[in-house]
Amino acid sequence: MGQQEYQVWGDLSFPSDGAGRVHSIISSDSDNPWMTLGIMENIEDERLLAEWDNVLAVQTELLADREFEWMARRGLGTNSAGILEIGSANGNYGTALARNFPENFVYGLEANSNLSERMNFEKCPPNYSIAVCKVGDEPLPEGVSGNFDSCILRFVTQHVSDPLRLLQAVYEELPKGGSLYIVEEDDALFQSYPALSAFETAFDIWRRVISAGGSNSQIGRKLPFLAREAGFDIASYEITLRNSVESGENFNRLFAGTTKMFQMTNPDIVTSEEVNHVLEGLADPASTNSVVAVYPQVLLHAVKR
Ligand SMILES: C[S@@+](CC[C@H](N)C(=O)[O-])C[C@H]1O[C@@H](n2cnc3c(N)ncnc32)[C@H](O)[C@@H]1O
Repeated sequence: MGQQEYQVWGDLSFPSDGAGRVHSIISSDSDNPWMTLGIMENIEDERLLAEWDNVLAVQTELLADREFEWMARRGLGTNSAGILEIGSANGNYGTALARNFPENFVYGLEANSNLSERMNFEKCPPNYSIAVCKVGDEPLPEGVSGNFDSCILRFVTQHVSDPLRLLQAVYEELPKGGSLYIVEEDDALFQSYPALSAFETAFDIWRRVISAGGSNSQIGRKLPFLAREAGFDIASYEITLRNSVESGENFNRLFAGTTKMFQMTNPDIVTSEEVNHVLEGLADPASTNSVVAVYPQVLLHAVKR
């Protein structure tokens, strides 16, 4: 890692045209506007929770190996210090993380107890725990504070109304030299080529529901600006277009799963006809096998100097 690379990252600042503005549209009048969870906040319905379980599992299966390999390459797990995982949901990703970094204890924290209660304790490795905590709003639980030197935020910054404040809170909790690893999405970069209507409809549903729920799934491109603004140095920023050819069946499962889930979340926005169109299209190998569809995997490693 050369000196030069850091100098390039050092030049980043918010674009003056406002493109880097980070405050979201959600509920500036609520008690804690910067901690609103967008579409994740009100998930209580049993069928919807089960559909989220499915999507979280597919996302781990499809994407996690490369993320863990990248984190290890960026230094995670090289000492035996603890890892803080904020936004653990049902613990699906955190347990996989803990299995991949067996020398480290992984402290999962989740704001929504409806999700954390779905944790599968039978499959929980001994180096993982999950507790309910809305980080940034509530103090870290005893035994967590001061016991980690790395923090993982995976698909979390998109669900808070002021991600900059969340990153500032993480910055304050990390020791000097500590690392922040962010995994995010950016649905502006979804694409199918040649355009396949089933994929394009799935992408469109995703964009409509996420923005209606107040979450920001175009946050991937803003991460370097946010992290720098919060005080971090950027050590690495990668966007990989994961695709339907490399990922096979799992790629279609992800978009079929999110389509079903988003209709349950927002039946007023997503019609049954659209859902059927997506599910039938994605189940038809004759059409999907002649298309390359892409999903951007956004990875940012930042360091507290
Ligand atoms: C889309 S899920 C991601 C789950 C998991 N990280 C994964 O990648 O599978 C985002 C989770 O972050 C949680 N969350 C959002 N803001 C949080 C905060 N400030 N503290 C703790 N959890 C938070 C939400 O409740 C939700 O369960």
